[in-house]
Amino acid sequence: MKIIVVGTGFVGLTHAATTSEYGHEVYAYDIDAERIAAYQSAVPAQIERHVNEPGLAQVIAENINRYLFFTTDITDVIEGVDAVFLCTATPPQYNGSTDLSYYTAAANTLAALLAKRKDQRRVVIVNKSTVPIGTARYLEGILREHNVPNVGVASNPEFLPEGDAVEKSRKPDRVVVGADTEEDLRILRRIYSQFVNHVRIRYIETTPETAEGIKYVANTLLLTYISFWNGVGARLSETFPNVRMEDLKRGVTSDARISTWGSYVSNGAGGSCFGKDIQSLIYQFKSHGQPAHLLQSVYDINEYQKTYLIDRASREAGATFNQKTVALLGLSFKQRTNDMRDSSSLKVVEALLGRGVKAIRAYDPLAMHEARRFFDPEKNHLYEKISYHDSPREALAGSDMLFISTDWEEFRGLSGTIEKTVPPPYLIIDGRRMIPDYMELVKRGYGYLGVGSAYLAPSADAASVEAETEAAR
Ligand code: UDX
Repeated sequence: MKIIVVGTGFVGLTHAATTSEYGHEVYAYDIDAERIAAYQSAVPAQIERHVNEPGLAQVIAENINRYLFFTTDITDVIEGVDAVFLCTATPPQYNGSTDLSYYTAAANTLAALLAKRKDQRRVVIVNKSTVPIGTARYLEGILREHNVPNVGVASNPEFLPEGDAVEKSRKPDRVVVGADTEEDLRILRRIYSQFVNHVRIRYIETTPETAEGIKYVANTLLLTYISFWNGVGARLSETFPNVRMEDLKRGVTSDARISTWGSYVSNGAGGSCFGKDIQSLIYQFKSHGQPAHLLQSVYDINEYQKTYLIDRASREAGATFNQKTVALLGLSFKQRTNDMRDSSSLKVVEALLGRGVKAIRAYDPLAMHEARRFFDPEKNHLYEKISYHDSPREALAGSDMLFISTDWEEFRGLSGTIEKTVPPPYLIIDGRRMIPDYMELVKRGYGYLGVGSAYLAPSADAASVEAETEAAR
C-alpha cells in the first residue's frame, strides 16, 4: 500500500517507520525541514534529538529509501496514495480544549492536493493523533469543501507508551479502526494485514466516533488507576501507622479482577497524553452540558501529587526550603525517555523556587538537554539557580536535601552514594519509592519521606526501625 504519514513527532515517526517494516511504501512528511533532514540522515544521534525511542533509529536505517521516505513536499507522491495518516501535534489550550490549528492546516493542505489527483482511486484519511470526538466528521467537512473525490475518513488511535513504542507497534494489545464504509475498512485491513485475525491481538472495527472515544476512555481510565492508588493507597499508608505500601498493593492486586498497572505510587503521572487527554475529555463533557466530577477529581489528585511531598516535608519533617540547596534526581516524566512534557519535575522546580531555595542541583541520564530548554533563564531569571551535573553523586554534593522525581533504575542503588556523599542530618524526599533499603539510612541518621510511607525521622526509636527493617526483608 502507498501511505503518507503527516507529522513526524513521536506518533508519526514511529508509525511511519514501523509500518514500512511490513513492506508498505511509506512517505513521512513534515513541514519542519530540520526534522526531515535529521531523519533522512538516518544517523541515530540526529534522529534522537527529535524523537528518542529505543530501536527506532535502527528501524529507520533498515528501511530508509527502500520502503521509507522522508519529505517536506508531498505534491509528487500524492498520486496513487491509498491512505494518509494524520499525526500532527494536538496541544492543549488554556481551557483544556484541544488546539486543532496544526491539524486543520495540514488537513487543508492535504485536501487541496488530493482534489487535484489524476488517479482517483479510493483514498482514506486516517486520524492517528488523539483528537476530540467528532474530529473525523470535521475532517469530512474539510474534504467536502475542497471537493476531494472518492475519499473516506477513519479514526485509528495510537496507544503507544513512550519507551516501548517500537516493541508495542509490532505487538499491540489491540488495533482500533473506526470508519463508515466497508471499502475504507478494507483498505485499513490491508495496511494492518499482519494484525487482522491474529490470535492475540484484537482487531476492532467500529464507527469513527467510537474509535475516538476508546482512546479517551482508555487513557483517562489508566490515569484513574494511578490517581486511585496515589489518592487512596498511598494516602492510607502515609496516614495510618503500620500500613505497609508494598503489602497493601500485593494484597489488593492479587484479585484477578484488579489491575496491577497503576498501582505503582508516585509523585504524579506526566507525559504528553494523560494530562492533556483528561482535560480535553472534561472539556468535551462540559461543553455538552455533562458533569465530569470523577475525571476532575482524577486530574486534581494527579496535579496535587506532583508537589505534595514538599508540603509534607514542611509539615511532617519540619523542613525549611528557604536558602537551602536541593539535589533533584530525575527530570523526565518517566524512566527511559528524555521527554519532559507535563513532567512532575516541572512543578517540583517551580515549588522549590517558590519556597526560596538557594540552588537546585539537577541530574537526569537523558533529559538534561530538554531541561535547559524548559528552564531557560531568559524566560525566568530564577532558573539560574538550577545547575546540571553529570552523575547523582555530583548532584548530591553539597546539598541539604534530596528530591527523587523520576523512576530511573540507576536511582535504586542510591543509598551507598548518599551515605558517601552527604552526611546526616539529611532529608530524602522520594517521589518514586526508589530506595528500597531506606530503613538502613534512617538508622544511620537520615530522614526519609516517601510516597506511600509515613515520614521516618532520623531519631525514630530503634525498636520500630528494627521492626520495619525486618518487614522490608
Ligand atoms: C500513556 C499510555 O500508557 C499510552 O497508552 C498512551 O497512548 C499515551 O499515554 P506514556 O505517556 O508514554 O503512555 O506513559 P506511561 O508509561 O503510561 O506513564 C505515564 C505516567 O504515569 C508516567 O509519569 C509514569 O511514571 C506514571 N505512572 C505509570 C505511575 O505513576 N504509576 C503507574 O503505575 C504507572
